Parts: sequence; C-alpha cells; structure tokens
Amino acid sequence: MKFKKNILCIGAGYVGGPTMAMIASKCPDYRVTVVDINPERINAWNSHELPVYEPGLDKIIKKTRGKNLFFSNNIEKAITENDIIFVSVHTPTKTFGEGAGKAPDLQYWEKTARQILENSKSSKIVIEKSTLPVKTAAAMEKILAPAKGKIKFEVLSNPEFLAEGTAINDLENPDRVLIGSRDTKNGLKARQELVNIYSRWVPKEKIITTNIWSSELSKLVSNAFLAQRVSSINSISALCEKTEADVSEVAKAVGMDSRIGSKFLQAGIGFGGSCFKKDILHLAYLCEYYGLPEVAAYWESVVKMNEYQQQRFIMNILSSMFNTLAGKKICVFGFAFKANTGDTRESPAIYITRKLLAEQALVTISDPKALKNALLDLSDIEENVKYEEDPYKAAAGCHAIAILTDWNIYKNLDFRKIYKSMIKPAFLFDGRNIVDHAKCFKIGFNVYPIGKPAMSHFKTSEKDNSNSR
Ligand code: NAD
Ligand code: UGA
Repeated sequence: MKFKKNILCIGAGYVGGPTMAMIASKCPDYRVTVVDINPERINAWNSHELPVYEPGLDKIIKKTRGKNLFFSNNIEKAITENDIIFVSVHTPTKTFGEGAGKAPDLQYWEKTARQILENSKSSKIVIEKSTLPVKTAAAMEKILAPAKGKIKFEVLSNPEFLAEGTAINDLENPDRVLIGSRDTKNGLKARQELVNIYSRWVPKEKIITTNIWSSELSKLVSNAFLAQRVSSINSISALCEKTEADVSEVAKAVGMDSRIGSKFLQAGIGFGGSCFKKDILHLAYLCEYYGLPEVAAYWESVVKMNEYQQQRFIMNILSSMFNTLAGKKICVFGFAFKANTGDTRESPAIYITRKLLAEQALVTISDPKALKNALLDLSDIEENVKYEEDPYKAAAGCHAIAILTDWNIYKNLDFRKIYKSMIKPAFLFDGRNIVDHAKCFKIGFNVYPIGKPAMSHFKTSEKDNSNSR
C-alpha cells in the first residue's frame, strides 16, 4: 500500500509507543514507525507482552501493528525514510556535574538531534514531543543548522499531556493539543502539517497554536500546577490530623468553588511518577538560570512538601506501632506510583519501603502490575523483602498493612478475612484514603488514614505512652 505520509517517532517509551499507536489508528493512510536504541524495548513492542501496561493499549496495537505501525531498531534508515520526526526520548534530571539534581540531562535529546542531521537526505519537520526546558528548540535549530545543500529543518514543539493509566483516553479525547512553531512561512507550513494530523480526531477548537517558547514552557507549567495542587492538599492534611478536620471534607468544600475545581485534591502519600518532580526541578533551575531565585524557591517548595508528606507517613507508622518496627511484618499494598500502571518511577512506595527496611521491618510487597519493576527498584536489597501478588497471601501473618497505591482492587477486599489472618493488634495505614475506615475499625483494625482522625482501639493512656498521635 502506498501511504500518504511517513511519520517517525524516536523513543519507544511510555509516550512514544501509545502516542504513535493513536496516530496510526486515527490516520490509517499514514505509515508510522517507532524506533529506539534499546532493542529489548522494540522486541517487547513487537511481542504479545508490551513494555508498558496501559488499559486499552493492547487493543489499539493489535489494530495497527504490522499494518501502518512498525517498531524498529534501525534508527538511521528510519530517519532517512521519514520527513516528519517526533522526538520522544527521556529527559531525566542530571545526576552529575553542573546543575546535578536539578537541571535536565539533555544528552539523549542532543544525540538524537545529531543523528537526525547525519542521516537526513531531505528536508524534515522535527517535533519536540519530550518535555524540554524553554528555549530548547533554539539549541535544536543550531545543531541542525549545518545541514547539507538544500536540506532544511523546521522545529516544532508539541508537548504531550497524557497521564499514565489513562493514556489511551487522554490521547483520544485530549483537553487540548498544543503546537508551537516559528512565525515564518516555513514554520507555519510545518505547523499546518501537524494540525492536519491531529484534526483527524481532535476538534479544531482544542488544537492550540502558539509560539515555540510558550509551548515549551506551558508543558512545564502544567505539570508544576498539577503537582502544586497535590502538595497544597497534602500540606492541609497535616493540619487536619492536628485539628480533627477531615481532609476529604475540606477538599470537597474547597473544590466545589468553580474557580478552584475539584480535581487533583486527593490527599495521599505524595505524588510520584517520572515527571512531576523532574519538571518542577527543571522549572526551578530555569528560574535560577534567568536570575529569579525567589520564583525558583517557590516551586521547589512543592517538591519539599511532597518529601515531607512521605516522611510524615513513615513517622506515623513508627509512632503508632510503639516506636519500633524491628522484626515486625509489614505488608505494602501497591508499589506503582498510581493505579492502572506498572510504572514505579519516583513512586513514593520506593522511599517508604526503604525506610521500613531501614527500621528492620520485614516487608511483603503486593501489586497487580508493578512487581517486576519493584524487584528492579529494590534489586540492591537481598534480605527482609518478599513479593506476593495476591493481597490475601501477602497480608497473612503481618502486623500492619500500608496502602500505597490507589488500585481499585484494594477498595473491595474482604478485610474481615484479612484481619483474621494477621497478628494482633493489626494496623491499617491507608496512604491513599481509599478503604472504608469506619468498617475496618469495626472489624478490629487500628486505622490511620491521611488527614483524618486516627481510629485506634487503644485506651487513651496506652496511646499517650506509645507516643502515637
Ligand atoms: P521513557 O524512558 O519511557 O522512553 C524514552 C525512550 O527513549 C527509551 O525507550 C529510550 O531507550 C529511548 N531513547 C533514548 N535515547 C535515544 C536515542 N538517542 N535514540 C533512540 N531512542 C532513544 O520516557 P517517557 O516516559 O516516554 O518520556 C519521554 C518524554 O515525554 C520525557 O521528556 C517525559 O518528560 C515526557 N512525558 C512523559 C509522560 C509520561 O506519562 N511518561 C507524559 C508526558 C510527557
Ligand atoms: C502527569 C500529568 O497528569 C500529565 O498531564 C502529564 O502529561 C504527565 O504527568 C507527564 O508529563 O509525565 P502522571 O504522572 O502519569 O501524569 O499521573 P498523574 O495522574 O498526574 O499523577 C501523578 C501523581 O500524583 C501520582 O502519584 C498520583 O497518585 C498523585 N496524585 C494525583 C495525588 O496524590 N493526588 C491527586 O489528587 C492526584
């Protein structure tokens, strides 16, 4: 079959794979290729066991793979053959040198830009899909400038707003698609090419076009605002625990103000995921770079509050369990950074589990999709940690359960059965506020939610002696 256009995506990760699958599904007359330097990733995309778990993804891959969607390792050939290139490589925080722990590590992105330059035999549109600091497109243009002969590159910014666990729905019904371009004849022409792709399924009024710098910055700012809401409600959860206010009631009352809105006000053990922390730190680094230390400090406080929330959770476990966890069995329900994903990048569960182990607790981790990644995250730890997918088996014989991921399955467990199988007194620390606390308390658990009064069966004097809340 002769295809109308050939599209390439460099980087077959959480964004590149699902995003290109959606484009292939909505544009059957376009040939979409996805390449990656990691051959295992490509093999997995070509197998029955996809490298990322995302509800609905397998269906869309089945529909398109081998027809107009192809996964390959041959990056050079793919660059030569395609004229529209999305770059969706990862952009982690630097772990070395100047700006370590704050600045973005752009080595993967720059290597890709140079590879595009070396292998191009015709003009191309290069689209930044990765989340990048504002002004990155200017650097990309400079790298691509020495192109041979009449070859020209037009750089666009088209950040991705999908959230993991809901990626397919987010891609199919996005709140908006953002496209930044240069305001030149060639820039506007390239922008139209991209508008043509998205307008196959996205309503025109949801496709916003801006200058490149606004587009790059809007992505960082969107993530910073979302994370800020989580840190704001988590800060209030700490105050609720001191004052007998209930954070869910406060969030509901506050969120019903249409100017504030109800989303992203779920208190918990803090945000995880590969992007919020890194994007805020990159935003703060940019502010410092441009001589705005007060603005940088403002955004950094969102990350600090997130760390505080995780420390607070651990301290609550420790003080509620009589200030010692040594030799006690603690079952962790959920290791993924949120429900409906196997992704554990920056999951609060990593920090919390490590802290439990440092207190010499014996930890059993349960998760329906993330155990493989949990094993990798804790690969340096050989003792005192076990993995068990079945939550009933995982909790049996334990002193406490800590719910760390908001998986639906944990909401509807038979907690009576679980309670019977545990060592008494049994503790339940609900780090996501997802179970029926009153019911679990009635069953016999000592229940410790986030931002709500604890429900303990201990007499006040015992509670005071134990230094619990
Ligand atoms: P990822 O780590 O899952 O995938 C990136 C892929 O790029 C990897 O498979 C890696 O092997 C590949 N890669 C790196 N250098 C390469 C090169 N030179 N040539 C070919 N392949 C190369 O990352 P991700 O989660 O997909 O994120 C990608 C970008 O999208 C990041 O900038 C991230 O901030 C942004 N983003 C992520 C999400 C998300 O939900 N994960 C959502 C929106 C935006
Ligand atoms: C987030 C954004 O929502 C996406 O728009 C963005 O594209 C993406 O980052 C990115 O750039 O990578 P994601 O990290 O996949 O998506 O998931 P979210 O739903 O935003 O959740 C992030 C974290 O915040 C999770 O740990 C979640 O449990 C936590 N969270 C979220 C809360 O603790 N409370 C809330 O009310 C909402």
